[in-house]
Amino acid sequence: MRAGITAGKDDKARRRRLARRLIAVQEEQRLRLSRELHDDLGQMLASVALELHAIRADSAELDTRLARAAHLIDQLSARVHDAAWSLRPADLDRLGLRACIEDLASMLCAQLGVPCDVDLEALSRPLEPEVALTLYRIAQEALTNIGKHARPSHVSVTAHIWDNKLRLAVEDNGHGFDGNIAPGSHHLGLAGMKERLALIGGELTVETAKGKGTAIYADVLLSD
Ligand SMILES: Nc1ncnc2c1ncn2[C@@H]1O[C@H](COP(=O)(O)OP(=O)(O)OP(=O)(O)O)[C@@H](O)[C@H]1O
Ligand SMILES: [Mg+2]
Repeated sequence: MRAGITAGKDDKARRRRLARRLIAVQEEQRLRLSRELHDDLGQMLASVALELHAIRADSAELDTRLARAAHLIDQLSARVHDAAWSLRPADLDRLGLRACIEDLASMLCAQLGVPCDVDLEALSRPLEPEVALTLYRIAQEALTNIGKHARPSHVSVTAHIWDNKLRLAVEDNGHGFDGNIAPGSHHLGLAGMKERLALIGGELTVETAKGKGTAIYADVLLSD
């Protein structure tokens, strides 16, 4: 009986260590990608945009086409900038999980111009680094999805603890979607959230229906 309990605990500790390493590797890859996007691609696009904006053709048609191309490059630069920004590491060590998610929520709601209920008191307690990082990335993706797909008039981001379980909830009253659709190769966000949570023994629940808004619940067991 005692041996069984010890083996269970060892197993859990081993899984946690593995999860910690995998998450660290993922974060390192994100950082590298973020730098490449920002420093290399971003700089090159900025140079091409400058060149295009500077060219003035003597034919009106060519001039219009150049202006259109310059406009497309500007849009591409903005996309690259957004992608680099979303991949960059969070400042969790300095600010803490609660403040980092509060920032994400208030930024999104300001952008969308909608009210946002935020109650993240439960995230003020110390959490293991891999748990904090996972919850941060989930909040980031869920809020990005709201910005991209939901068109809500209200957003709420809350966290609660009960029975040694922590639940982070990101909810909107926007379009919602058909939750039964299998994620395609172009839709990695929800699948990524599930995988990240599974790594730390957590669980993701998505409640949604067309026209009924969306609720994303991330549940993790707290260590005793
Ligand atoms: N809050 C939301 N409101 C409405 N629809 C949503 C919401 N979140 C997700 N969806 C729908 O679920 C689909 C899958 O979301 P998912 O995050 O997996 O992919 P994505 O956002 O399309 O692409 P990415 O891989 O960049 O995240 C979305 O394309 C969208 O149709
Ligand atoms: Mg997404």
